Amino acid sequence: MNQSEATALIVQQQQQSPQTARAMMSRRTRVVLGAILAIGLVCGAVALAVSMSSSSASSSSEAQGRRTGATYPVACPAAPANPEDRRTDKSRLRVASFNAEWLFLGQLAPTGARESGTDDKRSSQSSDSDVHRRGAISCPGDCTWTTPQEAVQHFDRVVKVLKDVNADIINLVEIENCTILYYLVNALPGFGYKPYLITGTDTATGQNVGILTRVDPYMAMTRDESRQNYPVPGTQCAAATASGTTGVSKHYLTAFQINNKKVGMMGLHLLSQPWQAENCRKREAQALVARNAADTILAGVDELIFLGDFNDYDGTVLDIAGSVPTSRTLEYLKTPINPSTAHLALSNVASHVPLENRYTSWWDKDNSCVDEGGDEHTSIDHMLVSAGLAAGIQNVLFDHEFVACCQCVSDHWPVVVDFAV
Ligand SMILES: *[C@@H]1O[C@H](CO)[C@@H](O)[C@H](O)[C@H]1NC(C)=O
Repeated sequence: MNQSEATALIVQQQQQSPQTARAMMSRRTRVVLGAILAIGLVCGAVALAVSMSSSSASSSSEAQGRRTGATYPVACPAAPANPEDRRTDKSRLRVASFNAEWLFLGQLAPTGARESGTDDKRSSQSSDSDVHRRGAISCPGDCTWTTPQEAVQHFDRVVKVLKDVNADIINLVEIENCTILYYLVNALPGFGYKPYLITGTDTATGQNVGILTRVDPYMAMTRDESRQNYPVPGTQCAAATASGTTGVSKHYLTAFQINNKKVGMMGLHLLSQPWQAENCRKREAQALVARNAADTILAGVDELIFLGDFNDYDGTVLDIAGSVPTSRTLEYLKTPINPSTAHLALSNVASHVPLENRYTSWWDKDNSCVDEGGDEHTSIDHMLVSAGLAAGIQNVLFDHEFVACCQCVSDHWPVVVDFAV
């Protein structure tokens, strides 16, 4: 599929979807403007000025609109007793992954919208000493969006991306918690989404992975806290003295009933810096933990999907820059550990993307804040799927709709896949 076909596909789907929030907004805006004009004509300039000021207040950002003062949980791992499938076309499944780059609103949440649930250790970490505060935003790590205005604008831009992608199941990387997923759901009326997230253990960044989905999982989101020694036997990483033990701080496992198949899914955000020798060793260990977790916890599924930001390259499906991995991370993830899960060997959907479009991430090597393309474009976000799903692939889009820059939407682009199911 070429880019324009893909774009046409997405546009077509948006037209099919029942009134998108954007369409409703523009209609409302027209009504409001019409009302202002009428009042202005009848009542004169004073009434006009009053109407205009109230109109500008009501057209504030979507991020304002969805913070309604409701209480949302910080984690939402439970599967509903009666999982629903809210897809309109059940012969097709669109799955996507997007690293939304620090989707955090922190203290911007309204007073009164206190989180419920106590499984998140960070809820007690509120002192200035362990949280970097910048204006109203607080992140344990180094947030990109450092003022309330930037964070809200970023949220609204992410909403726009999610509308364009319009996936049935979207894996989101670098998000704050389940509360922000509920804010996304509120900003995407008519999309049929529900949020699912289990809190991870990366307290250094506070980042989590979670999903918005039209198909509820039948298995509650779960995690595997196993650890693996590194270097692993058979490591391919450059000589490094680093040794130790690591787990996968940012991940979840869950499963969906998609028509007559059970589809397991593991969302992952692995350690960064593909070129760095110590992280290379740790990432290989993370890959073995992840693969073992899937082969154990999801052993009963018919099909399997691994997706997210793996922070590493695929040596068998090279990206546009020809990036060759120093680690065996992708190889370990693809390869079943147990004979009983031999049917869950995985392949990379990237093979369906033309080479010139095969990049998911912008690495601003020279810190210019300008996307110069070339070797600044690599593929470190992946979707690996088992054979039955791979056979049904209709389209794979690395969606470069938005331009990358330091203060733009994200330094990653969405990976969007349509399966016939
Ligand atoms: C969860 O996210 C919300 C929304 O951004 C934020 O207000 C809240 O502080 C976060 N809670 C925790 C415990 O991280």
